[in-house]
Amino acid sequence: MAAFGSVFMPQMALTRFEQGAWSTPQIVPADSISLHPGAHVLHYASTCFEGLKAFKHGDGSINLFRMEKNVARLIQSSGLLSLPQPDAATLSNMIIDIVRQYASDVPEPPGSMYIRPTHIGTEAAIGKAAAPTASSMLYVLLSPVGDYFAGGSKPLRLLLEQNGARCAAHMGMVKSGGNYASALQPILKARASVQADQVLFCPGGDVQETGAANFLLIDGNEIITKALDSSFLHGVTRDSVLTLARDMGMVVSERELSVAELLERAAKPGTEAALSGTAAVLTPVGTLIADGVEHKVGSGEAGPATIKLRQALNDIQWGRAEDKHGWLTRI
Ligand SMILES: Cc1ncc(COP(=O)(O)O)c(C=O)c1O
Repeated sequence: MAAFGSVFMPQMALTRFEQGAWSTPQIVPADSISLHPGAHVLHYASTCFEGLKAFKHGDGSINLFRMEKNVARLIQSSGLLSLPQPDAATLSNMIIDIVRQYASDVPEPPGSMYIRPTHIGTEAAIGKAAAPTASSMLYVLLSPVGDYFAGGSKPLRLLLEQNGARCAAHMGMVKSGGNYASALQPILKARASVQADQVLFCPGGDVQETGAANFLLIDGNEIITKALDSSFLHGVTRDSVLTLARDMGMVVSERELSVAELLERAAKPGTEAALSGTAAVLTPVGTLIADGVEHKVGSGEAGPATIKLRQALNDIQWGRAEDKHGWLTRI
């Protein structure tokens, strides 16, 4: 199986913002785009993107999961980066059109079609460090993906980073390329020094998120995660898992979680922790490494609540349980 996100469908949907207006979206080859070397995005990182999935159901239908949320987040990210804001209906139709085009390439569960809307500032203007791009390009790439956990979902090891942050505090809620580049060095160091899978960013002891997923702590009937603010990404999977947890009668606490409280709760035998994200779905966390000390989370293995929530989410995505919340768009 090819690495996640390394195979692309040959075409994509694309629209350009030029002279104050968006062009009619078109389906174009996805192997290259042409950009001036002075394009705003290449110098001043005017870029944001999204990640969502289309699933094939047993009846052969293709279903997008919570597309509205990802469309809204891309519009929000664009606004916060001073990129032109696309129209929700236009972007939704671009996603639907290109996924329809490749409906027969959507893998069966546990695989899916990963959808990557991308928005970049294209104006050739290296003098615009402190001014927005006047033009942009928005395209929707497709990448068929298999089971992220083909090798089994071994509980993850997370290094708790209590000094540095993933990105600037006001940028966490923006899904922008620069945030990922800024988190790379801490992640590479954590891999090399303590064989951590990911870094859990906890600046000043405030438990936030990892490089590409949200963090959830499950203690008995309670699920605890940081309340939404500008410092971290408002994950669609996080919101979905919290909704399913409420449906199951769990207590959902969206509030500040300190490293001290996290480690105290993790030491209890039944505690579980997990990462949530479109790619990760819900991945168990077995070990937390803080100040050079390894702490097991509960038993250190995938816990029953994590497995149950993950299954409940997959069942809806895969068309095996009723879509009570109207999360699927059948196309
Ligand atoms: C930094 C970050 N946090 C959280 C998430 C999870 O978000 P979502 O559930 O919308 O995929 C992602 C993944 O997209 C991410 O990159």
